[in-house]
Amino acid sequence: MEASFHMIWVLLIFILQGVQGEDVDVHNDLEIMKHRKRGCDVFQGRWVYDSSYPLYNSFDCPFLEQGFNCQKNGRRDLSYLKYRWQPSSCDLPRFSGRNFLKKFRGKRIMFVGDSLSLNQWQSFTCMLHAYLPKAKYTFSRTAAISTFTFPAYNVSIMLHRSAFLVDIITKKRGRILDLNSISGGSLWKGMDVLVFNTWHWWTHRGSLQVWDLVRDQKRTYKDMNRFVAFEKGLTTWAQWVDFDIDPNTTRVFFQGVSPVHADSREWGDPRAKDCRAQTHPLLGSSYPGGTNPAEAVLEKVLRRMSKPVQLLNITTLSALRKDGHIGGFGYGGLKDIDCSHWCLPGVPDTWNLLLYAYLIQN
Ligand SMILES: *[C@@H]1O[C@H](CO)[C@@H](O)[C@H](O)[C@H]1NC(C)=O
Ligand SMILES: *[C@@H]1O[C@H](CO)[C@@H](O)[C@H](O)[C@H]1NC(C)=O
Ligand SMILES: *[C@@H]1O[C@H](CO)[C@@H](O)[C@H](O)[C@H]1NC(C)=O
Repeated sequence: MEASFHMIWVLLIFILQGVQGEDVDVHNDLEIMKHRKRGCDVFQGRWVYDSSYPLYNSFDCPFLEQGFNCQKNGRRDLSYLKYRWQPSSCDLPRFSGRNFLKKFRGKRIMFVGDSLSLNQWQSFTCMLHAYLPKAKYTFSRTAAISTFTFPAYNVSIMLHRSAFLVDIITKKRGRILDLNSISGGSLWKGMDVLVFNTWHWWTHRGSLQVWDLVRDQKRTYKDMNRFVAFEKGLTTWAQWVDFDIDPNTTRVFFQGVSPVHADSREWGDPRAKDCRAQTHPLLGSSYPGGTNPAEAVLEKVLRRMSKPVQLLNITTLSALRKDGHIGGFGYGGLKDIDCSHWCLPGVPDTWNLLLYAYLIQN
């Protein structure tokens, strides 16, 4: 008796669901889509071919450094220029130089970091110039800071070269990488937007290593595990932000670790050797070479912060672009293969489209 009673209930529920099934599902799908739109992770997606790309022509950007201008340096394959980043669950806003300048009238945006910051800053100024070719611009440079300004809008896009963010202090004993001192901070105050980046220089050894000793909490070492040093240096930076930044007046971004393509075994093509002769991106959403351990350190430090910092989580999307590097088409030509910086136009334009998406909303 009890068993069949139960059966009837199960059947009844089944029939009710059957009748309402379609409606319920449609409703759920809409809810899911809305939810995903709201919380869209713009860093998850894939590269799609787009014949309208690139966003600008390298020959029309008069201030583009020749080192980034791969076409000028002889690169003949052009497919790498034609890929657009497509997030999986939403679209990126269309870039508009005019909208940006109107919204940021009277404001100053500063990129701070190593030559990957230079790469992104150059991309941003070329993008703005391409969308407003008639607008007057000025350009000035002091030892550490380069400033690109649109006087009509009083908007400045600045670059402060600072490879480690923390200080290198020259003493009789040698050059000391001081993990607890961050004097550059005095130059970053008063900016409306700050976009930081550091990593590549932490790995350098031999003649490329620009310090002789490393100091932490009054103790000096000959060397230190580079991930540990990176975490300590970043923590000093994080404390500076937590203490000195007013989030009501300054928005802070961190450009995630920019991947290097020096070992083609990472993407399952051992014969290629490195980024040379790569003409197409990896299609798909994940990088076969796995995640970058430096990126994990960065995310760990960011999670411990009290002030809001937006990570530009560009590591994976850039890792898919083994074709986007300068390779043998930089200053050094084929004698100096560069699988760390990026051709412009190219991958850093997408970093800026993502930055733009954050800057123009709210
Ligand atoms: C331009 O912007 C700066 C801040 O970025 C501000 O101090 C200055 O007064 C502005 N100049 C004009 C003419 O609006
Ligand atoms: C930022 O703005 C909020 C709301 O206007 C205010 O409550 C808060 O005190 C401000 N923070 C600082 C550091 O000025
Ligand atoms: C950054 O992106 C990677 C790959 O999509 C993801 O695994 C990671 O969780 C993201 N990090 C953050 C802080 O969103």
